[in-house]
Amino acid sequence: MIWDFQFHLPTRIEFGNGKVQELASRVRELGGEKVLLVTDQGIVKSGILQKVTDILKNGSIDFVVYDQVKPNPRDVDCMDAYRLAKEAGVDLLIGLGGGSSMDTAKAVGTLLTHSGEIKDWYGLNALERPISPLICIPTTAGTGSEITFFSVVTDTQTKLKMNILDIRVAPKIALLDPELTVTLPPHVTASTGMDALTHAIEAYTCTISEPITDALALYAIDLIVQYLPTAVQEGSNIEARKNMLAASLIAGIAFGNSDVGGVHCMAEALGGLYDTPHGVANSMLLPYVFEYNIPADVEKHAVVAQRLGASRDGKSALETALEGVELLKKLAETVQIPKMKDLGNVNPTDFSYLAEAATQNVSAPSNPRKASKEDYLQLFQKAFEGA
Ligand SMILES: [Fe+2]
Repeated sequence: MIWDFQFHLPTRIEFGNGKVQELASRVRELGGEKVLLVTDQGIVKSGILQKVTDILKNGSIDFVVYDQVKPNPRDVDCMDAYRLAKEAGVDLLIGLGGGSSMDTAKAVGTLLTHSGEIKDWYGLNALERPISPLICIPTTAGTGSEITFFSVVTDTQTKLKMNILDIRVAPKIALLDPELTVTLPPHVTASTGMDALTHAIEAYTCTISEPITDALALYAIDLIVQYLPTAVQEGSNIEARKNMLAASLIAGIAFGNSDVGGVHCMAEALGGLYDTPHGVANSMLLPYVFEYNIPADVEKHAVVAQRLGASRDGKSALETALEGVELLKKLAETVQIPKMKDLGNVNPTDFSYLAEAATQNVSAPSNPRKASKEDYLQLFQKAFEGA
């Protein structure tokens, strides 16, 4: 943990059942006259897009829709959405959906105020001015993208996930309505929830965690442990949905101000190559990276393990921390995350390439224990074998 830090929360949070009904007022408040609604086909099929466009129509808001966002959003799709926005004269964006829709909206907002191509704006603090005003409406409880200052985009030429990391991509408003998450299928609830858990654990254990992010991360872990299995098994349980949406938001604030670590470095490499859903990749890798990282800070890993349900009675911090590894595997099993081997498209001959990509990730220096390409290679092998 560091004791020399900054903490930012530039996004206004509006949280509550039915909050989406305020959308037209929020657009007007931000001065939006022509809106681009960025979303995906899942949101179209679920009826959520219809609900949201009805709200905009009833509020006399002029808008166009880009509904072709794919999981692990690609630079070429962001460019398509940008061309649509530019042609329509868009001055405000709405990201509606999971992390992919919100990250695409951030990328489009970047291009609207900067021009050029997405790759021109990768990296830390590369922007020259704020992006177009953005309202994010998450329909999953996991990504935290509604509150974070970055956009993760897959570069189709290198097949690497790249990041725009800049406080100027932060949404103006995060509109969180738990009722929008009740139709989320169990497997998406599970994988996105495990993504949120990974955010919280990595925010807490990484090299640049600080007191405020630690407090947020631990509470997020508590909420996820308590409510994720119910949200998966009983989708219409609004109590579980509300707590999971809050947990993903809080974990997002935590890792947005702290960082993630080795799990995300590996998961982004995997997702970049195979399109593995981000939360699934994180969940499959989390127990192994957690175990690897224990020697860097046994006490902090023991604290996480306790939050996951491990007992401390008569045990050393190391024994408790190791119990955490098993609890992470058990939770993934409870919410039915598939095994890496069962995905069908993961080929161990790619692990050397993936390990190299993990070392190149922007968050690699934040992992609590130094990890070489060889270390990442062994972790990929371990996770694949399910040892
Ligand atoms: Fe994530």
